[in-house]
Amino acid sequence: MKILIIGSGGREHALAWKCAQSALVDEVLVAPGNAGTATEKGVRNVDVGAEDLDGLLELARRESVALTIVGPEAPLAAGVVDRFEQAGLKCFGPSADAARLESSKAFAKEFMARHGIPTAGYAVVEEVEEGVRFIQSLTLPVVLKADGLAAGKGVVICDDEHQARETLEDMLSGQSFGQAGHRVVIEEFLVGEEASFIVIARNGQMVPLATSQDHKRRDEGDGGPNTGGMGAYSPAPIIDQATHERIVDEVIAPTLAGMQADGHPFTGFLYAGMMLTPSGPKVLEFNVRFGDPETQPILMRLKSDLVATVLKVMAGDIDKVELDWDERTALGIVMAAGGYPGSYAKGKPITGLEQSFPDHVKVFHAGTALDDAGQVVTSGGRVMCVTALGDDVAAARAEALKSLAFIGFENAFFRADIGHRALAPES
Ligand code: AMP
Ligand code: GLY
Repeated sequence: MKILIIGSGGREHALAWKCAQSALVDEVLVAPGNAGTATEKGVRNVDVGAEDLDGLLELARRESVALTIVGPEAPLAAGVVDRFEQAGLKCFGPSADAARLESSKAFAKEFMARHGIPTAGYAVVEEVEEGVRFIQSLTLPVVLKADGLAAGKGVVICDDEHQARETLEDMLSGQSFGQAGHRVVIEEFLVGEEASFIVIARNGQMVPLATSQDHKRRDEGDGGPNTGGMGAYSPAPIIDQATHERIVDEVIAPTLAGMQADGHPFTGFLYAGMMLTPSGPKVLEFNVRFGDPETQPILMRLKSDLVATVLKVMAGDIDKVELDWDERTALGIVMAAGGYPGSYAKGKPITGLEQSFPDHVKVFHAGTALDDAGQVVTSGGRVMCVTALGDDVAAARAEALKSLAFIGFENAFFRADIGHRALAPES
């Protein structure tokens, strides 16, 4: 059968690479893909944009695609799953209604409040003075979030009231975040350690994937601005058995039950961004898709057939799904273009990719393209995610760094400390 992956980042390269390994699959199409998917065995890029719903539907029909898996949030929020299902095509992901868990932070907060799901205290505001009054009632710092989709950049942590007011004014004016900022969620600041908890869900049922943790800040030591994610590893040792059970019981189960009760059952990858606070796990955000870069290390560890798994879930047999994981740790380091998450140059040639990397290393492409001469060049802020398996976090990181050292482009930067929170203090 043919599989279609929608998207063009590192997550989609990992999904395409994994699906191409399935015994059920003849060919994986990626729309639009990147230079990594263009050169992956059994994978073919098709020049259709991830948000061109008509083009995607036409492509799936023309190529008789048996199953489509959606990578990013934008097509989900735009209703790609609804469109495919109306056309009688299998497409794995949530409906546009269910995707509001990610596409509207106000929707997600109100949903959590209604269903008793632990999360930071909040208010949704559309007006500056109302917002400032709420900020004055909180302890600093406070967290401001643009309501709509902002590619992981719509969250600002404000250390003082002056900064909070300026940020609020900026968001509400539409200057930095456009329509996404016309409503703002103001939240109390949570203290603790973050972890990503991703499950495969259908209606009220779910199967958890391996745990993971990413590093959202740009700089080593977790400083600097928020990014889409500078690196990730799996498993996340901070999620012990007891915490795992609490997240399932207090967050995932009531979320899936609540979505069903509210009339928009959730199917797809559900990602709960968790803060593990002294008073228990709390939800920072929901994503309605696989994480990027969490997908890269998680899929490096998944031994089971992803396509067979998704088909089983869609057939209503989620209770028969058993996932088999590599015991080792996988760790991915993002190579980014200088300037990211702000503006950065594109079209810079990337060298070193012709290396033969060892079996326990995979170089997933993200923002890359092939130029007219067939040279791999940069085309985005996050350019690569060099991912390696190792016996522990330190070993996986050392292996990733060793391979990463062969790869270069102008003004490349990366964090050499990915996984530092999982390392014992003595190391
Ligand atoms: P989000 O997109 O909502 O996950 O926010 C991005 C990042 O901002 C999170 O990964 C956290 O590091 C941080 N963050 C968001 N909300 C809070 C909060 N209420 N308290 C502390 N940090 C937060
Ligand atoms: N790594 C965070 C995200 O995918 O949103």
